[in-house]
Amino acid sequence: MSGPLVREGYSGTGPGSITPDGCAVELYRRLSVGTEPDVIAAAVPAGSSILELGCGVGRMTRPLLARGFEVTAVDESAQMLEHVRGARTVRSPIESLELGHETFDVVLLASFLVHAGEHRVRDGILRTCRRYVKDGGVVLLQREGADYRTDLPRERVDPAGYTVRIVSADPVGDGVDSVHAEYIFDDARWTQTFRSRELTKEQFEGHLEAAGLTVDRYLTDDGVWVRAVPG
Ligand SMILES: C[S@@+](CC[C@H](N)C(=O)[O-])C[C@H]1O[C@@H](n2cnc3c(N)ncnc32)[C@H](O)[C@@H]1O
Repeated sequence: MSGPLVREGYSGTGPGSITPDGCAVELYRRLSVGTEPDVIAAAVPAGSSILELGCGVGRMTRPLLARGFEVTAVDESAQMLEHVRGARTVRSPIESLELGHETFDVVLLASFLVHAGEHRVRDGILRTCRRYVKDGGVVLLQREGADYRTDLPRERVDPAGYTVRIVSADPVGDGVDSVHAEYIFDDARWTQTFRSRELTKEQFEGHLEAAGLTVDRYLTDDGVWVRAVPG
């Protein structure tokens, strides 16, 4: 990757390095992992090869490796990737990922990255998902739940003791919101501001279809985790 990458409308504050999309490396080193690895493990064959897009410090990579998956972990942030252990790492924007003819049983796009503010970025990300999934393989995506933007401010106290607060989502035009989030620990505080495009179920499915992917199943009752297949 050449030159510093700037993502307009994305920023973060707090101790340590901040990625181009406003995430704090030290924050992600502290965040707990929830039920996501179980949802993933239940939706794909044991021992699958997984291409994890936007892996961060490997918060999900670690439990996936522990469950016996073989993970290739991709992120555009070198500072995030240097904390990933036990997986092959690739530093690249997802939308321009170049792995030749390699394909994977599973492509994983978590962390609501499908809601990217720019159409160009989202379409590029979905093209990457399609390109690197094997015939007969699956793409797993995490999308926003129904009340993610209406029920604000909203906060959750994690069992580990920290608070995650989604403070606001303000329209900035063309269906995109500027979302502001805070993460409060006893000894530190981080914020992230990022661009996010709300997608109805129909819009979400339409963008997948345009990339050559079809929703196969909604994996969770809240519609947040989705399995798609090529075709
Ligand atoms: C919200 S963090 C989540 C990390 C990880 N998925 C987790 O749940 O802990 C998003 C990560 O995706 C990376 N990222 C965001 N957009 C990206 C893009 N278009 N290409 C590559 N990496 C991206 C950021 O650098 C960051 O590490």
